[in-house]
Amino acid sequence: MTESLDIFPAKPVDVVIMAAGKGTRMKSRLPKVLHLLAGRALLAHVVDTAAQLQARQVTIITGHGAPEVEAAIALHTSARGQFDLKFVRQEPQLGTGHAVQQAVPVLADDGVVVVLSGDVPLTQADTLTQLLTACAGERLALLTLDLADPTGYGRIVRSGDVVQAIVEQKDATAAQRQITEIYSGIMAVPAQLLKTWLARLDNKNAQGEYYLTDVVKFAVADGVPVVAHKILDAVQIAGVNSPVQLAELERAYQKRIALQLMEQGVRLMDPARLDVRGTLRCGQDVVIDVNCVFEGQVSLGDGVQIGANCVIKSASIANGAVIHPFSHIEGGKPGSKDAVEVGAGALVGPFARLRPGARLGAEVHIGNFVEVKNSSLAKGAKANHLAYLGDATVGERVNYGAGSITANYDGANKHRTIIEADVHVGSNCVLVAPVTIGAGGTVGGGSTVSKDAAPLALTVARARQVSIPNWKRPSKK
Ligand code: UD1
Ligand code: MG
Repeated sequence: MTESLDIFPAKPVDVVIMAAGKGTRMKSRLPKVLHLLAGRALLAHVVDTAAQLQARQVTIITGHGAPEVEAAIALHTSARGQFDLKFVRQEPQLGTGHAVQQAVPVLADDGVVVVLSGDVPLTQADTLTQLLTACAGERLALLTLDLADPTGYGRIVRSGDVVQAIVEQKDATAAQRQITEIYSGIMAVPAQLLKTWLARLDNKNAQGEYYLTDVVKFAVADGVPVVAHKILDAVQIAGVNSPVQLAELERAYQKRIALQLMEQGVRLMDPARLDVRGTLRCGQDVVIDVNCVFEGQVSLGDGVQIGANCVIKSASIANGAVIHPFSHIEGGKPGSKDAVEVGAGALVGPFARLRPGARLGAEVHIGNFVEVKNSSLAKGAKANHLAYLGDATVGERVNYGAGSITANYDGANKHRTIIEADVHVGSNCVLVAPVTIGAGGTVGGGSTVSKDAAPLALTVARARQVSIPNWKRPSKK
């Protein structure tokens, strides 16, 4: 998306994001810009777009919920960190012009300022790059578009082709309200000019607000060219004011991701029933059935199949693995001890649960109602039914019976269970950690094993069976 770097204006880009508004219509305690779209705060999307522009500085104007917004975004950005992040408070909120005025003290004179809104999450970086090109470091560039229903938006007033002003809905004449070209709320403007114009704003208008949009008439008065960069895609300028609009943009975002995946060759059984809340990387011939949710960083190797209704977070799934329906995979950070890995040709589910630190080797089988946490299973190991493996190291070709568990927690500390290669653990066993079952050993069904078992041994740890022949059941007297 940043392939057009070389046509950037020579001036550094400083982004200002307005995010002080209340968001009353969200009817939520959470500040509007912290509501999540695709698992990321609305404002985080905007910050990430700014990062793609190679911004020198990103200044966020906060007001409502400022401490919460600042904390959340500082945390989000620390992971990115390629630009200088600044917060400026706007109290009270007297309009968009007043909002940007607050940023003046932290804006250098030599930059181009791109003004964005924290509640407009889906603007694409290449659109802004084009806007910067239109600005060329010396003009006022406005992002505009034609809307069939422009109600509520500022209208682009032209004389001939030349932009003269932006008139807000509430200040517009009946004739101006017929104009369908609207201002998106996004502009690019040389910092020095912006500062002189901001100093001239007043609030003599229908809303008694300081309108940022009034800079257009100052530009015209000063003989600075005003250019409108018109786009066609309304999603890119759509703001979030209500849960309904948030849901609409979530779908628009997911559709965009689904199209990208299909263009790469991924077979989505229904692109409308996919949710990616992070990054999903796919190899060739990947098939994803309906209603799957991917979070964090997930990578799927060649030929991976994901059944319907799986939730997969932060996992790396190797070539040819199959995740059957209704499986839940929840890994930690890639590369950390909590990462989840599924080996080539492994089979998981249906109804399996892989928790942080689950590492399945090639051709491992994890069946229904099996939970794996912080455990590695070497090539060909199987736990097919109703089992728990926690803090376990499981060797190659181990067969772990139905209903068996590792008792890894003594109430204070966690301990490891080591099951060496070729062990067969019968059904309904409890392996009380720390404990080692030696290679090739067998554990009889129903055993509670609390001492190490030697390789190749049969270990049975339960009451010996007693059968009393011809036993008479008590009968009623
Ligand atoms: C603004 C534009 C309008 C444009 C529309 C696009 C002005 C005067 N009007 O309308 O031409 O068509 O955006 O959506 O700029 N905010 C602050 N502090 C404030 C006021 C607003 O931070 O004092 C923030 C809001 O949180 C929001 C953004 O600025 O993120 C835009 O504010 P909003 O009230 O939605 O814009 P409008 O005035 O409706
Ligand atoms: Mg407003």
